[in-house]
Amino acid sequence: MDTVHSDEILRRIPAARYVDRAWQDREAAHLWPQVWQFACTVDCVPNPGDWWEYRLGAMSAIIVRGQDGALRAFQNACTHRASPLLDGAGCGLNAITCPFHGWTFDLAGRRGGSGKFDLKSLRLGVWAGMIFVDWRSEGESLEEFLGVVPGELAWVGMEQFTCRHVITIPIACNWKLVMDAFNEVYHIHTVHPQLLPAADDVNVPIRLFDRHSYFEQTFGVPSPRLKHDDDAMWRAFIENVGHRIGGTLAVDPSAPPPMPAIQQGDTLKDVLTRLVGDHLRTLSPIYADLDQRHILNDFHYYVFPNLIFNIFAGWIGINRARPGDTPDTCYFDLWSFDLLPPGHAAMHVKPVASTITPEAAAAFGRVMMQDVELLPRLQRGMSQPGVEVLNLTPSEIRIGHMHQTLDRYLGSSVAAELGED
Ligand SMILES: [Fe+2]
Repeated sequence: MDTVHSDEILRRIPAARYVDRAWQDREAAHLWPQVWQFACTVDCVPNPGDWWEYRLGAMSAIIVRGQDGALRAFQNACTHRASPLLDGAGCGLNAITCPFHGWTFDLAGRRGGSGKFDLKSLRLGVWAGMIFVDWRSEGESLEEFLGVVPGELAWVGMEQFTCRHVITIPIACNWKLVMDAFNEVYHIHTVHPQLLPAADDVNVPIRLFDRHSYFEQTFGVPSPRLKHDDDAMWRAFIENVGHRIGGTLAVDPSAPPPMPAIQQGDTLKDVLTRLVGDHLRTLSPIYADLDQRHILNDFHYYVFPNLIFNIFAGWIGINRARPGDTPDTCYFDLWSFDLLPPGHAAMHVKPVASTITPEAAAAFGRVMMQDVELLPRLQRGMSQPGVEVLNLTPSEIRIGHMHQTLDRYLGSSVAAELGED
């Protein structure tokens, strides 16, 4: 038996939530139209006349920068016969003209005349350069929805980061499986063993917030499952997060740069802290006084329902999952943010959006590839007749917390679905 994780089961989750059409329909009716959603960044719509479409299931919003410079969000449906107005993203818009019968709206959504046929506005909120939209006409503000998260991330300086590419990967699994894969570290020793010499996968503090959650993974120490080995740690650090000392992601693990000399009284962790810290200070003055923990660790936030913030000082990955047409398909969007050095030509450029195949995810490193390969297998496993329950261990509590939060939106109950009432 595993020495660091027991078989203690904390919570049982019905597998049907990941495979049933009826469950997906409940989410479409009671979750997505009732929650703030990350649509795009302000860099996606920098100039008057810029627009960006955010689509999730049947829902579509267009984010438009008006001639007055203001950001607005509209339901992407003509008020005549509901044709979508815009697809994808673009710039140079002076008016929004429906391609079906030519009804025209100004960039504030006005049709003129009585105002009766103005576009339906959606609520829009901005946090740290990220634009969120909400289909509800009233209710909690974005600030209330995000809760403690913005305060906890103030030290990161997110608004200074630039996302140059938004990558979408269609994956044959339920959207929640993407969230689950990033919300527990229990699978690291089996799926991502290459991380173990450089990161602790066992002593991982977890905090649950009202709807969101957190864990923090310590880098610069080996997994308690392994013996300490400086050479292995150096190679694992370079392979997995080598970009943090100014290199590129996915350095050839067979040919890492030589390990720097470790001075008397220092540890390799101190050396890594100095290398990463030196690189961070070339990027921004905000990191001048960062401590070792903030320099090295992975700060990981789940923002309900479909956002993962994977945060290192100087690099942020935001993983978003959107449901596909069926419960066993989804779109996995990767927003990768760099903190560029002052004066960099690409700072705050408009990101390029593209769709890639799961195989091409290898470009985002071995960990990402391993997770992307894993997900359709999990969907296949839980789709088998006779598979009814998923058992969560204590280290997987964030997944259980997500389901509890889903229950609040859907009026559902795990116990009732499992016949335990
Ligand atoms: Fe993973």
